[in-house]
Amino acid sequence: MTTPKRYLVTSALPYANGLKHIGHLAGAYIPADIYVRYLKAQLRDVVFVCGSDEHGTAIPIQAMKEGTTAQAIIDKYHPIIEQNFKDLGIHFDIYHRTSSPLHHETAQEFFTVLNDNGDLEIKTSEQYFDEATQTFLADRFIKGTCPNCSYDNAFGDQCEKCGKSLSPDELINPVSTLSGNVPVKKETSHWYLPLNKHEDFLREWVLKEHKNDWRVNVVGQVKSWVDGGLQPRAVTRDLDWGIQVPVKNAVGKVLYVWFDAPIGYISATKQWALNHGKDWKPYWYENDTQLVHFIGKDNIVFHAIIFPVMLKLHGNILPANVPSNEFMNLEGDKMSTSRGWSIEMDDYINDWIKKENGGESMADVLRYYLTAIAPETKDSEFTWKGFQDACNSELVSVFGNYVNRTFVLMHKLCNGKVPPFHNDLIDDLDKQLIQDIGNTKLKVETLLEGYKFREAQFEVIDLARKANQYMQKKEPWILAKHLPESPSNQHLIDNALHLCLQLTANLAILINPFLPFTAKKMLHMMKVVEKLLEWQNAGRVDLLKVEYSLREPQLLFRKIEDEEIAHQLEKLTIKKVQVEENKSVEVEQESKNVLKPEIVFDDFGKIDLRIGTITAAEKVEKADKLLKLEVDLGFEKRTIVSGIAMHFKPEELVGQQVTVVCNLAPRKMRGIESNGMILLAEDKSGKLHFLHTNGMIDAGSTIS
Ligand code: 2FM
Ligand code: ZN
Repeated sequence: MTTPKRYLVTSALPYANGLKHIGHLAGAYIPADIYVRYLKAQLRDVVFVCGSDEHGTAIPIQAMKEGTTAQAIIDKYHPIIEQNFKDLGIHFDIYHRTSSPLHHETAQEFFTVLNDNGDLEIKTSEQYFDEATQTFLADRFIKGTCPNCSYDNAFGDQCEKCGKSLSPDELINPVSTLSGNVPVKKETSHWYLPLNKHEDFLREWVLKEHKNDWRVNVVGQVKSWVDGGLQPRAVTRDLDWGIQVPVKNAVGKVLYVWFDAPIGYISATKQWALNHGKDWKPYWYENDTQLVHFIGKDNIVFHAIIFPVMLKLHGNILPANVPSNEFMNLEGDKMSTSRGWSIEMDDYINDWIKKENGGESMADVLRYYLTAIAPETKDSEFTWKGFQDACNSELVSVFGNYVNRTFVLMHKLCNGKVPPFHNDLIDDLDKQLIQDIGNTKLKVETLLEGYKFREAQFEVIDLARKANQYMQKKEPWILAKHLPESPSNQHLIDNALHLCLQLTANLAILINPFLPFTAKKMLHMMKVVEKLLEWQNAGRVDLLKVEYSLREPQLLFRKIEDEEIAHQLEKLTIKKVQVEENKSVEVEQESKNVLKPEIVFDDFGKIDLRIGTITAAEKVEKADKLLKLEVDLGFEKRTIVSGIAMHFKPEELVGQQVTVVCNLAPRKMRGIESNGMILLAEDKSGKLHFLHTNGMIDAGSTIS
């Protein structure tokens, strides 16, 4: 295979609707970052793009939850997520936004080309509609029971529990997420991408051409979709949040978020090119570009079926690979921010990185563990104990310990300078170690180019393990003890430490794609510049010059204590309970954030509101929630039954002035006729409050 001339690497654009967790990080960001750092160390031409996915129903839904606007939501989360990635060493060349005008323009142009070429179809169908909010209910605006796993909170586009892609029509007992109402069906027209016309292309391109070089999970999913028969897919929506469909009279229609989001990779490349005075076109049009999309498994259909069809129709290159990870579970359960069972990147950064001096090494510890357990072929499991073990018994005891011992001994036995290597004394152990360095370089290279990050990282740690064994066998500290009677031992010490130091330099190069903060620290200790990290230097044993003086060692990693792990486990449990509690309040609130449909003045005029004074109050027998109130309306006295017993004691109510709806038809509750209704305010936490009258108002006063 010839080496591509340039690379365009993408990581799935996260929705800017909230914090992202470490499962996301492990899926689409760390592997991509490792790959890009490796390519850059190879001095290849590579651009790494990502950014916020800011459209679709996920954003307005979050806005409803936070009681704000969609724009405020994306403006809040975009910078936080961008900074979180930086703090964890994910180094994009650009972190763009799909709300940018450049992206809107790019996505509209893309749609127009496909539409003008006759590659899209317009179809009219009946879709779910919420009459209360006058909204068509696509994607996350509709919820119901999953037909696959019976989860009762599945969205109209996907079930978060079993991961199945859904359409609103498949949901059992659908309700509107916006109002909680049962929707009706209403006719609407949309543009569709006729995927059914591209089955042959997909069979040929994925199932034959990439059968062996793409991951099994990706090829498998494409096969099952294609074998099941592809359907035309709507690429527009009736929504007021998104990119306007660039067609005259398409009022209130926007591009489907999954149509515009992947085009975000193109607009991000354009913005990067603008920022750096480069040409973006070769990255998307030239066949000698290698395009690689890093994603999580719930994004496979979009990146291996839909977007490639769009790219082909638009005349762009196709991805060379779509490395997709499976899911990472957490302490025995599925990771999910909404269910409170997750570790957010932001939380990890605050707890482990920001709290201590030199905390960046804890970013590398997370990168290390997430790569060591990367769900490359099947789901994997993050446990805090596993995290602690990986740090303490691999990074601290193997890698960090080796580098530290080498530096300490070099200062102690070689005056802090790189000792010479005496060729005449080379032995089999030395030769074996030199060979191991070269072999590791080749293995890591092959594994990284084959997207096998977990094994590649293992090889680097394994080299450090071999280096520890080498040092253990050479025992320079014992040789030093016998120096007075055997001065020639100094040459043996020199050789051992010379090779140990060259190996340290190699470890810095090899570990750099995985643990960039650690590699940087090692450069500082070796007093060398970043150029050393170029991949072509790996395998060489003349990287550090003889007599060059090196700095004192700094510990690369620190041990993680049991208490720290216990604290994290406790935090996880507390968070879950809190989220569950908040959820029940949220469910009630959700429907309250939506205004009821508009009424005319006459509707309001029909309601007779008066001021009344409560003169007596008592509990209703066998009804926890009800109180029987006597209310003086001035012109008459009324009995009103009200569901406020959980909020007020009867004795608190006597003498209170309240607003009364007094022309409400009488209703019997627990055998008592209720003649009217009292009005109270309910705050976000569900607490009830009286609408205070400023001093006493005559009972019976009207309100209008
Ligand atoms: O699943 C997600 O989080 C989507 N926001 C990923 C989009 S990837 C690409 F298409 F932009
Ligand atoms: Zn399901």
